[in-house]
Amino acid sequence: MKDASPQTTYLSDYTPFGWQVADVHLTVKLAPKATRVVSRIHFQPNPNAPAQDFFLHGEELKLIRAAIDGTEVNPELTPQGLRCDVPSGPFLWETEVEIAPAENTALEGLYMSNGMYCTQCEAEGFRKITYYPDRPDVMATFTVRIEGDTPVKLSNGNPTDSGEGWAEWHDPWPKPAYLFALVAGDLVNHPGAFTTMSGKEVELNIWVRPGDEGKCAFGMEALKASMTWDEEVYGREYDLDIFNIVAVDDFNMGAMENKGLNIFNSSCVLASPETSTDANFERIEAIIAHEYFHNWTGNRITCRDWFQLCLKEGLTVYRDSQFTSDMRSAEVKRISDVIDLRARQFPEDQGPLSHPVRPESFQEINNFYTATVYEKGAEVIGMLKRLVGDEAYGKALDLYFERHDGDAATIEDWLRVFEDSTGRDLSQFKRWYSQSGTPHLSISEDYADGTFTLTFKQETPPTPGQSDKAPQVLPIAVGLLNPNGDEVVPTTVLEMTDAEQSFSFEGLSAKPVASILRGFSAPVVLDRETLAEEKRFLLAHDTDAFNRWEASRDLARGCLFDMVTEGAGPDMAWIDALEQVIRDGDLDPAFRALMLALPTQSELAQMLHAKGVTPDPDAIHAAAETLRNAMAERWSSLLPELMAATRVTEGYSPDAKQSGKRALGNAVLSLQTRLDGGKAAQAQFDAADNMTMQLSALSCLISAGAEDAALAAFERQWKDDRLVMDKWFALQVAATKPESAAPRAEALTKRPDFDWKNPNRFRAVMGSLAMNHAGFHAKDGSGYRLLAEWLIKLDGKNPQTAARMCSVFQTWTRYDAGRQALMKAELERIAAKPDLSRDVSEMVGRLLS
Ligand code: PHE
Ligand code: ZN
Repeated sequence: MKDASPQTTYLSDYTPFGWQVADVHLTVKLAPKATRVVSRIHFQPNPNAPAQDFFLHGEELKLIRAAIDGTEVNPELTPQGLRCDVPSGPFLWETEVEIAPAENTALEGLYMSNGMYCTQCEAEGFRKITYYPDRPDVMATFTVRIEGDTPVKLSNGNPTDSGEGWAEWHDPWPKPAYLFALVAGDLVNHPGAFTTMSGKEVELNIWVRPGDEGKCAFGMEALKASMTWDEEVYGREYDLDIFNIVAVDDFNMGAMENKGLNIFNSSCVLASPETSTDANFERIEAIIAHEYFHNWTGNRITCRDWFQLCLKEGLTVYRDSQFTSDMRSAEVKRISDVIDLRARQFPEDQGPLSHPVRPESFQEINNFYTATVYEKGAEVIGMLKRLVGDEAYGKALDLYFERHDGDAATIEDWLRVFEDSTGRDLSQFKRWYSQSGTPHLSISEDYADGTFTLTFKQETPPTPGQSDKAPQVLPIAVGLLNPNGDEVVPTTVLEMTDAEQSFSFEGLSAKPVASILRGFSAPVVLDRETLAEEKRFLLAHDTDAFNRWEASRDLARGCLFDMVTEGAGPDMAWIDALEQVIRDGDLDPAFRALMLALPTQSELAQMLHAKGVTPDPDAIHAAAETLRNAMAERWSSLLPELMAATRVTEGYSPDAKQSGKRALGNAVLSLQTRLDGGKAAQAQFDAADNMTMQLSALSCLISAGAEDAALAAFERQWKDDRLVMDKWFALQVAATKPESAAPRAEALTKRPDFDWKNPNRFRAVMGSLAMNHAGFHAKDGSGYRLLAEWLIKLDGKNPQTAARMCSVFQTWTRYDAGRQALMKAELERIAAKPDLSRDVSEMVGRLLS
């Protein structure tokens, strides 16, 4: 049953639940269309809560029976749950409900994927399994008995007993219901073991469908590396006898940190050299780490309510990025994270969906698993660490774990830990959690008599619901270089707290060149009018890798801006300066590969818009093409040489060293393709023995329009591998020329293997359409129309995934009147769908407001 008038939930309305749960006992009798869930829950009055009705969440449940202390009761049922008169003291609550996992296409609650039972309870999915106070501040120990004829039956905690057709699990750690999980099916395990720092033996398993056993070894190593890292860096040890990971094909998100039983989208755990790219390997390693790290930041210390989501997500993203930096290259990771932040979080924060890192209201919490909560949430922690220093950060984290272990905590708790352990006042810093929007930072410089002064101004444009912004604390990392390229002032963190503030450096012998916002020390938009010469100087000499990259990126942006707005030609001075970096064999190939990429077309659209120019997607695309061609032609003799230098001769390994080489080689291949029409790419495709080389060659062939034979060969080779076929679906839409993007996406949707109820397959086609900037924004509106049609269709089956994808329209007001009208019409068409889900309705409502 649908919710007729969506309710808004407010942070300011938080009230504790009126009861505490001592323990939960569940018996789950599995059957695809009629699973029975019997619950036995001990409730006792919560002395810290105001008087209230006894209300339990429950959705789409068929109540068979309810009893209090053994006596049957008749609760009042609503579409959201049940209300019941209960005794004033402690009591035993029992219910039996029936649910139909086989009919659950929303992939929330208990559902089936390829014949296997699995659950997804975050954020509010447990209420689709049984009646319960489904809120993160209600924590309890769980005992779970699973009955069914599947060979494998898993739940949280430790296995306690099993027999023919049943298995029992007990989780000794009190947890909120969103961390509950159950998996049952015909699964096989890739086993492993880990000894913790205090000498406890932990059994590890990755559970997969038969046939996927060969794709688990990398994930297992990543898990062990994560366990070791969390002990060494954060002093955190694992706390159960067993840790299970399960791969599931139908999953709305990347993965889920259920206590002791992490459930993964199979694309985020299964890996082999033949079927996974280097980027896939790196992502899998990071996600395994992320979910594992949640055991402390999320599970042992959880969130009081869903407004505090960034408490666990921002911190855990921050931790997984530290892990990746330690495992691979810290510089390359930082640059990649900033690319991602600008591509996903900046548009969000600068458009109609803008919201604070800690939102203050929502209709559907699933719509707030956003780049702002996750990635900006992690940036905020990075800033905090930069401000207090590494040592103080470590001490504060120790105090956090000590003080809040077992708690459902808040951002106030988190900040108080830092205040108490450092003596700092963080009241202004807290604005990072409550103020939405991206601050703009502008700079002016002055040099006189050996003193160099930097004057900064910060300003955050208004965002929905927040017209006036107060100044935020900005850690601005700065270094100064002499005109000869020597560093005269090494990286120093300036702490800006006012709307306008100056900082001086004395005793300099000449006017220095400033390298500002090193390492992207604060998530701001830098408005800096720097001479191109100065940027080329930084590109050549900066000791900060991030700013070296940024200088080049800035030059590329400036060049594309002039090409689009003034019809200028490619900036040959930049191309030549970049060549020096690309040629430098002492530099990490992965870094050089990043230097070779142009700013994305969507990033350019954002920049044009910010400068008051209406972006024309076709003109942006044309300029990027012209610039790439100019790079290829200028470097025509260098390219083959570079390709040869990146050749990997040893056996395949997804490590940073090899993958960096391949990344550079493939960036070069895409330029080479512009000169030879795809000859080198075809040769690479034919010879490839790993997915990285095969897929990048295919990508080049698609952009050259020479892909027919390769696409067919790829399909013949991989038609039985779903994850590889997702790549095949995605690439031909993402890499094709703009005018073909929507027609190709549409043609793909007509194939029998376009299994659109599978989120990975849906996203492969529709997500890639949105990634093809000029294709999605085709002037005739065909891209918008196709996507809207499919979102309407998906909404009926899977509101969560449909709603997430609505964000591709978040920049709609940037474009020209014609495109705006087309997008608005599609959004209105979605809004007008009868029975629209609460998820999509909230998203479309915000987009149109
Ligand atoms: N909590 C998960 C993570 O970030 C994400 C998630 C949210 C997964 C909601 C499923 C549903 O690790
Ligand atoms: Zn997470």
